[in-house]
Amino acid sequence: MSIAFHAERQSFKLDTAGSSYIIKIHHNGFLSCVYYGAYIPDDNLTDFERRHVYASFSAWPPGTEPYTFTPDTCPMEIGCNGGCDMRQSSVRVRNADGNAVSDFRYVSHRIEAGKPAIPGLPALYENEPGDCETLVITTRDETTGAEMDLYYTVFTKHAAMTRAAVIRNASDKDLEIEQALSFCLDLNRSDFDLISLHGKHMQERDFCRRPIGHGIQGIYSRRGSSGHQFNPFIALIDRSGNEDRGGAYGFNLVYSSNFKALTEVDYNGSTRVIMGLGDDDFGWRLAPGESFYTPEAVLVYSNEGLGGMSRTFHRLYNENLVRGDWKRRHRPLLINNWEGTYFDFDEEKLFAIAKWAKETGLEMFVMDDGWFGKRDDDTSGLGDWFVNENKIHGGLPALVKRVKDLGLKFGIWFEPEMISPDSDLFREHPDWAIHVPNRPSSIGRHQLILDMTREDVRDYIFGRMYDIISSTGADYVKWDFNRNMTEAGSALLPPDRQKEFYHRYILGVYALIDRLLTAFPHLLLEGCSGGGGRYDPGMMYYSPQIWCSDNTDALSRVDVQFGSSLCYPASVQGAHVSASPRASYETKRNVAMWGSFGYELDPAKISEEARAEIRTQIADYHRYYDLIHFGDLYRLISPWDDPYKAAWQFVDPEKTETLVTVLIKFMMRERNFFLRLKGLDPDAYYRLDENGEVYSGALLMNAGLNLSFMPNEDGFSKTFHFTKVEA
Ligand code: DGJ
Repeated sequence: MSIAFHAERQSFKLDTAGSSYIIKIHHNGFLSCVYYGAYIPDDNLTDFERRHVYASFSAWPPGTEPYTFTPDTCPMEIGCNGGCDMRQSSVRVRNADGNAVSDFRYVSHRIEAGKPAIPGLPALYENEPGDCETLVITTRDETTGAEMDLYYTVFTKHAAMTRAAVIRNASDKDLEIEQALSFCLDLNRSDFDLISLHGKHMQERDFCRRPIGHGIQGIYSRRGSSGHQFNPFIALIDRSGNEDRGGAYGFNLVYSSNFKALTEVDYNGSTRVIMGLGDDDFGWRLAPGESFYTPEAVLVYSNEGLGGMSRTFHRLYNENLVRGDWKRRHRPLLINNWEGTYFDFDEEKLFAIAKWAKETGLEMFVMDDGWFGKRDDDTSGLGDWFVNENKIHGGLPALVKRVKDLGLKFGIWFEPEMISPDSDLFREHPDWAIHVPNRPSSIGRHQLILDMTREDVRDYIFGRMYDIISSTGADYVKWDFNRNMTEAGSALLPPDRQKEFYHRYILGVYALIDRLLTAFPHLLLEGCSGGGGRYDPGMMYYSPQIWCSDNTDALSRVDVQFGSSLCYPASVQGAHVSASPRASYETKRNVAMWGSFGYELDPAKISEEARAEIRTQIADYHRYYDLIHFGDLYRLISPWDDPYKAAWQFVDPEKTETLVTVLIKFMMRERNFFLRLKGLDPDAYYRLDENGEVYSGALLMNAGLNLSFMPNEDGFSKTFHFTKVEA
């Protein structure tokens, strides 16, 4: 059994495929985390339940004998605001009396097979019966009548669990939720390093590792999207831990808007981790009988360092997050015209690209920005989702038919959430743009954002997208989002509900995408936000691939891919070969093959040699598709460890083949280079494709590949493919 309740000890034990989590119900109804970490067989942790109680100034809650218990020093499952627990709170509910004190205590629980969906929000799901089990603990604040259900789902095939909460107003007065995080977790130690992913446009998900210490450290977004600047992911790893060794906890929020993730080391040396939707400028009015659902957070534990943690996330997301028609299907090898033409194209130029793509062996043509409204640059046209016949003479269906007659699929770009001030849509409906009264709106990339909290706005955009997709038979949509949110308010929300705006906005976006995918269940959606500005599991639930970065220079983009791999599998990572000048086409291909692969160039603008080279590149992508998308990733040399070179490796789950890629970013100073592989069967033998040499797995993992005589040139790269042979 994955979740067990011990009535006598009043504790729960939640086991995943590799971790245990133990919760204690105290005599006074408070809930504590007694243990979370590697799987342990023991379920009697009575000795671990005891914590130092007396601490000068800490208070004990009503109904508790003095000096026997205080939430201030206990590992709490809920960080209640306004009571004895003085650390960062995870929930704050303001009541009709005007105060925001809450005191949620255990009422009841139930254990269910499977995993319930979260209304309106993306969430991991059960693949087949037996995959998941869920514990729901109901708690109640007697004074206000607020109730909070804590949801814990364990995965039986992965060392992973999810946590979320539902706050219910079981009173007869309105409540105001000011903070509703997805979880609060108190670990018994603080000897961890914190890892997070930061960045900016063109340089997303850079790796940052630092020791945690007393006080607060963390990341957040207030941009109205998860953002380029911080990904909604953090990890805590043992100080001595590394890529292969040590305990590593990974936390990831399934949400695409404002968030926060904090660690706090308290005065007793424990570490609190909280994560959830951002509570700056957040509020939610909850009428009697209403419920509020938090997004869910994913918690992964690995005893095999960061590598093990990442592989668990990858398998989990491939199996239990990505969904729909394209889940495990080979996605079409595409060519996108953006970097090839930008806004400067007509139907003949596009058709010429498509024709070359077909002759070269590609499978889909994607028409990017600029095909609609008045859109010759980025200053106008967003919202006017009608084809611009001055560019696409003869209309869209005619162009799409020509492309499809070649035997290609057709994809199309939209930025559905945006509106240009210079657009017919804005002239007709200025109040459809988000704004606040009496204050001019700031412009980002010359555009405003549509108010997705409004049903009429969503209906209109759905109608336009529906018309375009159904009249052309488009197979793929690239869904872009190109600015941060400012002056965030809706013309339809009353003043006392404007604080609900950010969350209502993303709920509106999710509803719109869901409606589109229901109408077109075979549509392949590629998420995008100026590259990877909304590269989060919330979006991955809808779009099985996301354009990872606008940076297509292989030598620097590879760093973005390394950072992204901390949490996200190769299958979700849109990665293209472009005409960027710094690397050879072979290197660009080798880097882009680590993802959902494609080309982004105008073949008329590259050399005949480059075109010929591309023709030879495609077979390998098909050949290694499953290995890369669904195999296990080993980061052999990461940019955060070595500025000169990078190496990564995929191994199939049965350990019968492996693909190793080595990249020299800058000429190495030290010439002895033995690359030790990972994840192979030490007792098996593997043949290297290129020369037929056979090596034992043990040799490859211990002595390594001797690369000392490989060309030591900036931008040189090489792949090595090994197949297991009978000894
Ligand atoms: C930003 C995206 O990341 C690019 O790939 C491209 O689609 C442009 N927007 C188009 O405006």
